[in-house]
Amino acid sequence: MTPTGAWAPKAAFTPVPQLWSSVWRWSNRMKKLIAGLVCLGLGVAASASAAPAKTGAQLYKRCSACHLATGQGVPGAYPALAGRLQPLAASEAGREYLVLVLKAGLMGPLTVDGVAYSSMMPGQAAALKTDGMAKVLNYVMEELNGLKDQDDWTPFTEEEVKAILDNNPKVRARDVMNKRAGVFGTD
Ligand code: HEC
Repeated sequence: MTPTGAWAPKAAFTPVPQLWSSVWRWSNRMKKLIAGLVCLGLGVAASASAAPAKTGAQLYKRCSACHLATGQGVPGAYPALAGRLQPLAASEAGREYLVLVLKAGLMGPLTVDGVAYSSMMPGQAAALKTDGMAKVLNYVMEELNGLKDQDDWTPFTEEEVKAILDNNPKVRARDVMNKRAGVFGTD
């Protein structure tokens, strides 16, 4: 170590070349720090993509922030998802509607069990991807709407989700609202 090392006592007057060399050392340290952070970031990204795929129950945590863990919703703010979506599973229009709500979100106003909702649901497709959309819809239908053991229940597949998305390019929350009419049969 030379007396110009990082921890050497500072002279009252620092000659300019020495000042430069300490700035240089500092900037080199910053470069190493930044490089280290970048590596860390890439490492985290790599481990995230290598992580096991999430289950429908885990993915549903995105939804429970608004619709609650039980799917009972919050009257006037977030409509219930539990116990009232069964009719959608059996019709093509109903299944398409469910996929498109996740894709583009939904813009009310709408009425559920006599309660008005005029908020907006943000699209979830970017976070879920097509396989996640199928899984979370299966969780909602099987666990929150009791379809798990029903003989006539056909689970969503990634292929079905992709086909619906291909048939509905550029769909927006407002368009999804227009598709809602009639899918429940009664509403
Ligand atoms: C930021 C809050 C929020 C999140 C997160 C959210 N939703 Fe919604 N969702 C809403 C709102 C609000 C509505 C009603 C739209 C309106 O008021 O315009 C709605 C409506 C729906 C509907 C339509 C119900 C009907 O009666 O037509 C479905 C289905 C749905 N959400 C499923 C989901 C699923 C599944 C997830 C998770 C992947 C999810 N939502 C995440 C807020 C949210």
